Amino acid sequence: MSDSPRPRTVLVTGSAKRLGREVALALAAAGWQVAVHYRGSAAEAAQTVVDCKRVAAAGAGVQAFEADLQDEAQARALLPRVIQHLGDVDAIVNNASMFEHDTAKSFGYDSLVAHIRSNAGAPILLAQALHQHVVSRGDAAPARDAVVVNMLDQKLWNQNPDFLSYTLSKAALEAANTMLAIALAPQVRVVGVAPGLTITSHLLSPEKFKQLHQLSPLGRSSTPQDVVSAVKFALDNRSITGTTLLVDGGQHLMKFDRDFSLM
Ligand SMILES: NC(=O)c1ccc[n+]([C@@H]2O[C@H](COP(=O)([O-])OP(=O)(O)OC[C@H]3O[C@@H](n4cnc5c(N)ncnc54)[C@H](OP(=O)(O)O)[C@@H]3O)[C@@H](O)[C@H]2O)c1
Repeated sequence: MSDSPRPRTVLVTGSAKRLGREVALALAAAGWQVAVHYRGSAAEAAQTVVDCKRVAAAGAGVQAFEADLQDEAQARALLPRVIQHLGDVDAIVNNASMFEHDTAKSFGYDSLVAHIRSNAGAPILLAQALHQHVVSRGDAAPARDAVVVNMLDQKLWNQNPDFLSYTLSKAALEAANTMLAIALAPQVRVVGVAPGLTITSHLLSPEKFKQLHQLSPLGRSSTPQDVVSAVKFALDNRSITGTTLLVDGGQHLMKFDRDFSLM
């Protein structure tokens, strides 16, 4: 039997495309086995698996897993499915996120509940499942700790009236970040990563995105590589828990009247 340690395994939610895909690719290249979670983007998830395998170590497992995280049963079943296919899991990056517009004038329970389920409920359930998984293994002195990284948003520190339900759901996740770090220690560390404007959307022209990206004390907001490097730091630094890394060029230090996508 080989004495070499098994590779670490991470579940990255919402990693078919955009920031989650960048995190999945970087972690595969860094030697992690990667569970690529997706909801609707099946083709993009399959491509992310192919691309992760291209940069991963020979024999490292990379696999796609579908789940709608608004559905509690599907959220609860996700980690056990990953463990069944890839073996022990060491980390979860809670990256998947619902981002739909509402304000105090259009607010209703449906939008709030949908955002809370996807953006706070599912990350908490996945953290709970990781903790149960680690405890059930019963390692007397685990050689490595387990980690949950929660993707937050600089806008929590710099609020504006747009995306009310999204912001409330991320505020709930930020509070949970602290409570989970206390409750799940010493087995599981819990770390937030809060990007600034990093990837554009259909709501912004490339020119407008470039202009808004420069709107920060440092003259540039975060790039996907900046966010990835913060996620890797959170995963590797064994003394960090219950805190959040703001990776935004200092955008949280400024006051914006509207969400970037509506400026
Ligand atoms: N992009 C930025 O500049 C920025 C700025 C600040 C914070 N962030 C945070 O960083 C993270 C990544 O940002 P992003 O812009 O790359 O995210 P995104 O494109 O808005 O969403 C990522 C993925 O989340 C998945 N998702 C949404 N609802 C889901 C549900 N109910 N169940 C399962 N999956 C669901 C979708 O998967 P499918 O496509 O497979 O359906 C989607 O591709 C998010 O947590 C976001 O809040 C991003």
